[in-house]
Parts: sequence; C-alpha cells; structure tokens
Amino acid sequence: MSLSERPMKLLEEEFKRYNKDEALHTNIVAAVLMAETIRTSFGPFGLDKMILDPVGDIIISNDGSTIVKNFDVRHPVARILDNLVRSQDKEVGDGSKTAVILVGELLKQAFKLLSEKINPNDIIDGYEIALRWTNEILNEIAIEIDINDGKILKDIAKTALTSKIHGKNEDYISDLIIDAIHHVREIKDGKDHINTKNIYILAKKGGNIPDSKLIKGMVIDKEVISESMPKRIENAKIAMIEPSLEHKKVHKFDPKIYINNSNQMKSFLRKDKEVIENFIKKMKETGVNVALFRRDISERSQRLLANANIMAARFVHREQFYPAQKAVGAKLITKLDDYSPKDLGHAELVEERKIGKKKIIFIEGCKNPKAVCLFLRAGIKNVGYELERRVIDAISVVRNAIKDKKVLPGGAATEIETAKRIRLKSSSVAGKKQLAIEAFADSLEIIPKTLIETAGLDQLDYLTELRASHNQETDEDIYFGLNFENKQPMNMAKLGIMDSFKAKYHAINAASEVARLILRIDDIIDQADESAYAPPPKPREDYDDED
Ligand SMILES: Nc1ncnc2c1ncn2[C@@H]1O[C@H](COP(=O)(O)OP(=O)(O)OP(=O)(O)O)[C@@H](O)[C@H]1O
Ligand SMILES: [Mg+2]
Repeated sequence: MSLSERPMKLLEEEFKRYNKDEALHTNIVAAVLMAETIRTSFGPFGLDKMILDPVGDIIISNDGSTIVKNFDVRHPVARILDNLVRSQDKEVGDGSKTAVILVGELLKQAFKLLSEKINPNDIIDGYEIALRWTNEILNEIAIEIDINDGKILKDIAKTALTSKIHGKNEDYISDLIIDAIHHVREIKDGKDHINTKNIYILAKKGGNIPDSKLIKGMVIDKEVISESMPKRIENAKIAMIEPSLEHKKVHKFDPKIYINNSNQMKSFLRKDKEVIENFIKKMKETGVNVALFRRDISERSQRLLANANIMAARFVHREQFYPAQKAVGAKLITKLDDYSPKDLGHAELVEERKIGKKKIIFIEGCKNPKAVCLFLRAGIKNVGYELERRVIDAISVVRNAIKDKKVLPGGAATEIETAKRIRLKSSSVAGKKQLAIEAFADSLEIIPKTLIETAGLDQLDYLTELRASHNQETDEDIYFGLNFENKQPMNMAKLGIMDSFKAKYHAINAASEVARLILRIDDIIDQADESAYAPPPKPREDYDDED
C-alpha cells in the first residue's frame, strides 16, 4: 500500500471544512459585505448606524470601531475586522472606517485578479510592494506642522469631528479640546508627552453641546458623603487619601503586621482609632477643607470629618482620583501616620452640584492643572455617547499630530496622490505582480469614491476632476482633495482639512496586512459550536445615564 493510499483521518467528520476556493470566496465575501455596510457612514456626509445590542440597548453611532465592535456576525472574518478596528482605536484613535473599507476593496480587487487565474501569491507579493511604496509616498507628501500653531491643531481636531457633531458645535468643541491638550502637554527629555488619560471626559445628559466646558480641575462623580459636611468650599485645600478611614482596615495592606491573640487585636484597634483621630486632627490644624478618598470611610470617621468641617467623598473612581491629584497638584497620602501639609493640593472652588438627578462634585480653578476634565453636555443620552466617542478620536489625532509633527492632506488628496504615484512606478515591475500593484492603487481610490458617493455627487465626474487636479504640475496639486463647499477640488492644506499621519499610515498598513492574511487562507476548518460565536461580553461604558 502506498503512502497516499493509506487511510487517514485528520479531522472529526462533524467539523465543517471548506476547500481552497470556497474558503477564499467565503472570506472575501464576508469582508466585502462588512466594508459595504461601513461605507455609508464614512466621511463628513456619512450617516449614523443604529445598533441594537444583545441586551436591547440602542447605540446610534458613526464611529467605525463602535459599529464593527457591535456587529453580531458569526463569520470568522468579522472577528478579524473586529481586531483590526480595536488595534486602530488603541494605537492611533482614528481611521477605523478607512481601514475596514480598504480591506473590503483590496479583497474585491484581488477577487477580480483571482477570477483571471492570477495566483494569490502574486497578488500578495504585488500588494506588499505597493504597500512599501505607499509608506514612502506618505512620508513624501506629509505636511510638516508647527506644533505650537493652535490654528493647525484646531483644524486637525475639526476634521476628526466633522459630521459627527452637527452645526457650529465642532468649532467650539475643537477649542475645548486644544485647550485641554495644552494643559496636559509636558516636555520630557526634550520630547512632547501627552497622556490622554489626563483628560477625563464626562458626558452628562441635559443642556446642549455648547453648554459643554473645560474644567480646569476635575469632576468627581460622587456626592459629599454626609449631609452635615459643607457642600461648597472656596480656596480649597485638598487631601487625596489612598488608605481607608475605617479602623480594622487602616493597616489591612501592611504585610509587616502579625496578630497572635485578642489583646493584641484590641490594642491594635485602639491604635487604629488613634491614628485616624490624629490624622483628621492634623488635617484640620493644617487647614484641609476637602478630603477625597479612594476607599471607604467609617461612620465614626465621617462624623469626625464633618465636625472638622471637612467636605469628603469616598470610593472615588480611579479614573477621576488620579487625574484629580494631578489637577490639584497634590501628593498622594499613602500612610495616615505619615502626613505632611506639603502633600496638599489647591483649587479655587470645590462644590457639589446637582446634574440631572445626580449630585457631582466639581473641583474648579486649579492653578496650572496637569489634568483637566472635559464636561460634555447633550440633550439626549445617545448624542452624549457619540459626542464622547468623537471627542476621544479628536484628542487622539491632535496628540498624534503633536508627536509626529506632520499631517496628511484630507478629503482623499492623500489617496489620490498615492494611487497616482504607485501607478507611475508600477511599470518598473514585470509580470502579474504589476497587475496586483495597480489593483492596490485602485483600492486606495475607494476612499475618494466613498466620500463622493456619501455626499450624493456623481462619482465618475468628480473622481475624474480630482485625478486631473493632481496633474497640474504645480507645487500644490498634491494637496488637492474633495471640497464639498463649492464642489471643486481644492488645496486641503489651505482649507484646513487634515488627517492624522499616524492614523492613515496605520489604517493602510493594517488593512493591507489583513487583506494579505485573508488571501493566504486556503482552508477553513470549523470546529466551533454555536456558543463559541457568542459575542464577547462588552465592557461597561463609562458614561452615566442615571437620569
Ligand atoms: N470637510 C471635509 N471635506 C472633505 N473630506 C473630509 C472632511 N472632513 C473629513 N473628511 C475626510 O473624511 C475621512 C474620515 O471620515 P471618518 O472620520 O468618517 O472615517 P474614519 O476616520 O476612517 O473612521 P472613524 O473616525 O470612525 O475612526 C477622511 O478621509 C477625511 O479626510
Ligand atoms: Mg475619523
């Protein structure tokens, strides 16, 4: 019996298996369908999607990663695209729809080549060459910026916000964002350092978008712990306290303490009470009038604090607590018996206010705060959610621009110029790979095509005009993109329509990687039962919709 005749069973029969052509076909169709769904929400005229999540909540969003993450699709390609948008979101904060749309188009173009009997390996090789060129071209056409030019940074924020919040609001919100970034920007070792976690965003239902504001301080989404404590304090001296103010728990985390008998325990508790009393006494003596606690405060401690006329809040959320510490300029108190007034922070005003049905503590007027809060308002909950998502994107693109010191022209100028240059270079590569390189260039043009389509304009006319605008042999023609105001291609740098270099670079590279990955798959072995496809549990949104 020859080797090939030997009976062999590699897989259990109940597993589904797709042959080579089926595997490629089904994967490509899935990616193209998902990209098509995303396309209608792309760009300044993109529409929103309404998604009903598994627990019946409604999400209305235009944000690529939010839409893809909430796709409840069984196909494994959906998981791959989900990972793609998550990485786009995490690494660069914008460009997630660009990435998904590009994957769809790269695979659509590849499918055409496959139908002409071109080998997937030639397509993969051609795409790899085209991507290498693209990366060079992106660096060539990038616009260097003066990162201290507030107008440019505002333009970048506005492009990321466009269409996502309506009317003139984007102007106002961009100003708030630039102001916020200005506060948290630090120069370390000669390099710009922006920790976006130091901009805490809190969106609350009620009011309108123009009621949003930048708080040079922080909001603490808790109420003052006791009715007998003050609710408004001017010239606040603030203590930020890590340990609990419950006796029994003061030394809970101290590994050096051993208790062997009940007497030891009693004396230990007595000592705990003393430590707490002394701590509150010292705070009072040194003028502390606000105390924020990460952990709990016992009822006895609450009474002592109230008697000392100190406003206090407990269980302050870590996302507010640590930025609050930076905002007020306090040092964290980690041991109650190691208190120093030098650790205190300051604010002009600390006040508990009622927002909707909830009470919130506002810390305002901090001098030179290293963390701030963007307090966003919107008439309805869903608008608040969406505003928050868009503001997060815009903060990321401004951070990217400051770090990169360069941007790319928006309105598809970058894609048109890159496609043009790739086509010019493609004749240097012989054989079938050349076709794949050209297909890559064609795929980039899905970006202008989609922008034109969503704006309801004639695709052929406008695309031809846009391509022609890049052949004028002038210095500025590389920046010509879609201008929807007068429907003529215009210099995007002059119009201030600019995209994050990092986001576009990442989107094109990640999309190309995913397309090549899918083209390499020639077998699907489906061992998963239905439960394996249940959507992963969603993290709770950090948005309060209490009222
Ligand atoms: N005013 C404008 N005129 C022309 N094009 C614009 C304008 N504003 C934005 N764009 C373009 O819209 C595209 C970005 O659209 P959008 O923000 O919907 O997608 P994305 O950034 O890929 O996805 P997401 O923001 O959901 O992560 C970019 O190509 C950008 O240049
Ligand atoms: Mg965007």
